Amino acid sequence: MNGQQFIFMGDQASGYNREILQMSLWPLALSILIFLGVSGALFYTVNRFREDRHDAAPQQFHGNNRLEVVLVLVPVVIVLGLSVLAVRSLVRLNTASAQALSVEAVGRQFWWQFSYPTSKVAGGVVTNGNEMVMPTKQRVSVTTSSLDVVHGFWAPNIGGQRASIPGSNKTWEVDTDRQAVYQGNCSQLCGASHSNMRYKVIALDQDRWTAFINAATAYTAPTPEPGSAAERGYTLFTQGKASTGAVACSACHRVQGTSAGGQSGPDLSFFGTRRTLGAGMWEAMTPRQWEETEVQPHSPLKFSPAAALHAWIKHSPVVKPGSLMPRYDGGEYKINGKVQKGGLLTDAEIDDIAAYLRTLKLPEEADYWRGIP
Ligand code: CUA
Repeated sequence: MNGQQFIFMGDQASGYNREILQMSLWPLALSILIFLGVSGALFYTVNRFREDRHDAAPQQFHGNNRLEVVLVLVPVVIVLGLSVLAVRSLVRLNTASAQALSVEAVGRQFWWQFSYPTSKVAGGVVTNGNEMVMPTKQRVSVTTSSLDVVHGFWAPNIGGQRASIPGSNKTWEVDTDRQAVYQGNCSQLCGASHSNMRYKVIALDQDRWTAFINAATAYTAPTPEPGSAAERGYTLFTQGKASTGAVACSACHRVQGTSAGGQSGPDLSFFGTRRTLGAGMWEAMTPRQWEETEVQPHSPLKFSPAAALHAWIKHSPVVKPGSLMPRYDGGEYKINGKVQKGGLLTDAEIDDIAAYLRTLKLPEEADYWRGIP
């Protein structure tokens, strides 16, 4: 996706990054001045006092109190000045603004859960996996933590990296003026799929943001049409298949407005609206691409979105090292070093579940991906 702009030092559409740049210009300018002064003095001295220009020994003296005082005071004043600037920026960046929107970002091995604590719905709050939607031109107060190991929240375009630490909440404010999709990464080595722990930040102008959050709050997953593949998928999703040991998806996944209330996997309420899969292993699953069957050359996994989703449901730990999702092809996988045996679903049953997942869509006007460069 576009929207990755690194101009000099950080994306200047973000007030956070602008503050950092303004603060950094002073040490940079002073460094250049001092470098020019010191190297100028050096070149002058070397040239002016070359041996072949002086027969006599240079003037001999010892100690110069005034010069020594100046040489101590100048750096002290510079360092004090710079620390005042740094403290001022720290205070500005860490002062909570009254109008900030709260978002919680919880890191898990190996995905992110984003939730909106002020948008209450039955059984919780509005939550999405791996795609963080935020408004533009408004500060967003991110609180990050982790439920397993230390992760790192880092979406450079909106400003500010923080460690996501189990049992700790770190809150700071990010922002951007530009409506775009930005890349986020886990910035702390956290296990086998650290590099597959990516997310998208989708910044929407206020009217579109409002449309999204209102629709997300009012959202109830659509009831599948009787007799459709999606309906069969819904039954498997919520009940599993006891005869072959296939655990119900709803044991781990939540779908807003249904009985599926699992908390240990990503919230799938808006799965059909998302354009990433497997915490950013796939990107840009546009409706057109869903119909394609050929290879996506830029995809880390070399097949179409439909085939990717099928493979994902069938044997997630095979396509993503360290994934804690069970296998549904009967194969073995490990959770915390313990070997588990997956349940068994047929390819047709897996496609039914995929069909159900693709119906989980926000209304068109709330589709946060629509038309964003
Ligand atoms: Cu989570 Cu690296």
